[in-house]
Amino acid sequence: MDTGFRVKCAKGKERWRVLGPDNGGHALLRPGTANAILTELMKTPTKLIASGRPHARPAHPVNPPVERASTILFPTYDDYVEGKRRISYGRLGTSTHRALEEAVSVLEGGVETRLAPSGLQAVISAILAFVSAGDEALITDGAYDPTRKFADRFLARFGVKVVYYDPLIGAGISELITPQTKVILAESPSSLTFETQDLPAITAAARERDVKVVVDNTWAAGVYFRPIAHGADVSVQAGTKYLAGHSDCLVGSITAADERSARAVFRSLLQIGSNVSADDAALALRGARTLAVRMPVHEQNGLKLAKWLGKRSEVARVLHPSIKSTPGHAAWKRDFSGSSGLFGVVLKPTPLPALKAFFNSLRLFGMGFSWGGFESLCIHVEPEANRTATEWREEGPTLRFHAGLEDIGDLVADLERAFEAMALASRDV
Ligand SMILES: Cc1ncc(COP(=O)(O)O)c(C=O)c1O
Repeated sequence: MDTGFRVKCAKGKERWRVLGPDNGGHALLRPGTANAILTELMKTPTKLIASGRPHARPAHPVNPPVERASTILFPTYDDYVEGKRRISYGRLGTSTHRALEEAVSVLEGGVETRLAPSGLQAVISAILAFVSAGDEALITDGAYDPTRKFADRFLARFGVKVVYYDPLIGAGISELITPQTKVILAESPSSLTFETQDLPAITAAARERDVKVVVDNTWAAGVYFRPIAHGADVSVQAGTKYLAGHSDCLVGSITAADERSARAVFRSLLQIGSNVSADDAALALRGARTLAVRMPVHEQNGLKLAKWLGKRSEVARVLHPSIKSTPGHAAWKRDFSGSSGLFGVVLKPTPLPALKAFFNSLRLFGMGFSWGGFESLCIHVEPEANRTATEWREEGPTLRFHAGLEDIGDLVADLERAFEAMALASRDV
């Protein structure tokens, strides 16, 4: 009878690790097996609890220590000269960082994860890993706006041509790939407009032409979608959002599907001089432990709000990947196992004073950037401002909601009050 969990290592070898006194029954992945991928025998909640844990010793804390460091001391001259350990200088991270990297690798199903000081820096570093002057990058028209700004202003300055593509392009992307194309950036679903991309079609076309595919997987948090299983070379998350989950730290993760991509990502981060504080890594790891139990609440609250909003007379359209009318819904249904709490709503044309009254009446929904924390949010966004390959032609204002972990009845009551204030203000216009 098998008494252990099967662990698949990066090099493809499989072995069994038996639970017993030797490993305390819970330190399933030791530091040093950071590339290990737990097989289907464990479900996501268990993986997130079991990975990135300290070495099994006769007595040890549950959590890895928060190791803050610039200088790392080498015990011998030979160690110093060799200097190639995974922990060798503070900028490259300590065991705290390694623990979080291990947890994210297991979550995303990749061979190696590296951290970046923000989600944006993670996206940027992943793209820079694969392009040089004279190359081309294909970027989804639904990309997070600061990603576009990096592409338009930074990549362009260094001689990389940027071409935006329709998020719904699917296999049609092969027509945009030229001999100079080195990387495709996907973000699924799109920021602000929530179209789900046909990632298997895109990665198949990219593989034929030796083009790398990087996916911003922040929305699904690695819980509801694993881009690497659908052919992506790199999956990136703004861990700032769901992974950390408490709106109190910034961190990004870059998970590579294979050793070559991992090396390219590592070089990119190293040469940029990127670094994450150990305290932020520890906060994100703490968040990761409960990620799998938080996500279903975000999902349920999001679905209930989207449904309720869809019935309101003020609402023209709901933008939620799980809703049939949202473009790309078929790909979401095929490839994703659920939805997070972030979605959009297009209101019918609304005078500005009425819109202001709506926002100013909200008590539970905060108005602020970022998302993925425990709290609900609602902001006015403008997808029309930054599309170039496609057009966003809605007459009314677009709102972006983040469903937090509050009681759904309280959230609905908050919105009801805000809509009443909006109606009153509309009458005064
Ligand atoms: C989809 C997406 N990717 C990346 C980022 C950037 O993350 P960070 O704020 O950690 O830089 C954001 C931030 O809102 C985002 O929404």
